[in-house]
Amino acid sequence: MRKLFIETYGCQMNEADSGIIASIMGRNGYELVEDPEDADVIIVNTCSVREHAEIRAIGRISQLAAIKKRKPDLVLCVSGCMAQRMKGRIYEIIPNVDVVAGPDSYKRLPELIEEAVSRKGEGSFIDVKLRKDELYSGIEPFQFDRVRAWVTIMRGCNRFCSFCIVPFVRGRERFVPFQEILEELERLAKMGYKEVTFLGQTVNSYRYEDKDFADLLLAASEVEGIERIRFTSPYPLFVTEKMIEAMRVSKKVCPHIHLPVQSASDKILSLMKRGYTIAQYEDVIHKLRDRIPGIAITTDIIVGFPGEEEEDFLATYDFMMRTRFDSAFIFKYSPREGTRATILGDPVPEEEKLRRLEAVIGLQERISEEINKGFIGKDVEVLVECDAKRGEGRLFGRTPHFKSVVFSPGDKTISPGDIVPVRVTDATSHTLLGVYGR
Ligand code: 5AD
Repeated sequence: MRKLFIETYGCQMNEADSGIIASIMGRNGYELVEDPEDADVIIVNTCSVREHAEIRAIGRISQLAAIKKRKPDLVLCVSGCMAQRMKGRIYEIIPNVDVVAGPDSYKRLPELIEEAVSRKGEGSFIDVKLRKDELYSGIEPFQFDRVRAWVTIMRGCNRFCSFCIVPFVRGRERFVPFQEILEELERLAKMGYKEVTFLGQTVNSYRYEDKDFADLLLAASEVEGIERIRFTSPYPLFVTEKMIEAMRVSKKVCPHIHLPVQSASDKILSLMKRGYTIAQYEDVIHKLRDRIPGIAITTDIIVGFPGEEEEDFLATYDFMMRTRFDSAFIFKYSPREGTRATILGDPVPEEEKLRRLEAVIGLQERISEEINKGFIGKDVEVLVECDAKRGEGRLFGRTPHFKSVVFSPGDKTISPGDIVPVRVTDATSHTLLGVYGR
């Protein structure tokens, strides 16, 4: 068996894609190794959502390319969104790269690698064709995590938000057949997985024949063995009454939604081509909180989008103060070549972006801490994932609300995959701390 090392950058979809790649490669005689030094083939699965993600990946690929000095037969592959965006330019930046494959070309990886090997790396072995029907049916993706499984239910995106590269590197939306998703859940349940996360760029735009996303949540809730169902990321405009109702009635769909708002200024939302006003977004939040009391709501925010003036920024700041998200990922705007926002330039100076970033991060930290402290003295149900980082025998897991929990098991033997009660004794902005038991 030839040895394969895969490293993943970016979102959960990329992690799931690395699982697809691992499965394809596995069928072609490769086994995974943990150390790149041991590998015959290295695949770096990349992200292109912000420039920072690309710079990091390029740095890492260059570092891995250095292994080729000692092991000239090593095949170095760059896959995923950055591969799709930069295409052959990758060879100019990192000449030691052998194979380049976009998100719809993973099935061609074994063949491209064979060609690279047989031609001793002479030439470029590249496939960045967008295949509008590619869904990787029948692949049975490998799951890198032992406790939480990814289930891709759609690929691509039709929204074209003005800042976003995704539609350009992942093509138009397409949906995995309803029955195939349920079969995958059955398979995962048999393997012992209790938690699944449905993935898609706009996951709740899912539809297949006469079924929609709400139908999928309800059908998935019937799968025996699956205890927790999550999804990411939904698009605010597609949160229907029916979807909220499905979340409410299902005992398995977790009371958490990650609902990217991006900005709370109508002017900026319009420039971003998000398709909603902040009043519409807020209405969705109210409905969710009204129907699913205690639901955790998290979000994504971009600061420093072109045209964002102080009052627009303050609108976002005030909105965050009023909405009290459980947590938020906050990003500085990063212009992406080819997207519509680039015609607006990048007028907000870097220092100003940083000031806004730090201001909303600080605000969110305080809010998250207050919300988390509200759990002190309560009992939560934790799906155990692994040992806690700063160990001392403590374990790490998550609540249905997607709160990270670090707890001591006492004298109880607890394994990853167990769902156990934990009494919360303390909390920080990112973590609940506690002890096993009620
Ligand atoms: N600049 C900054 N942040 C971006 N995001 C997407 N594109 C950009 C960009 N060009 C953020 C959005 C999205 C998250 C995944 O990444 O907030 O929800």
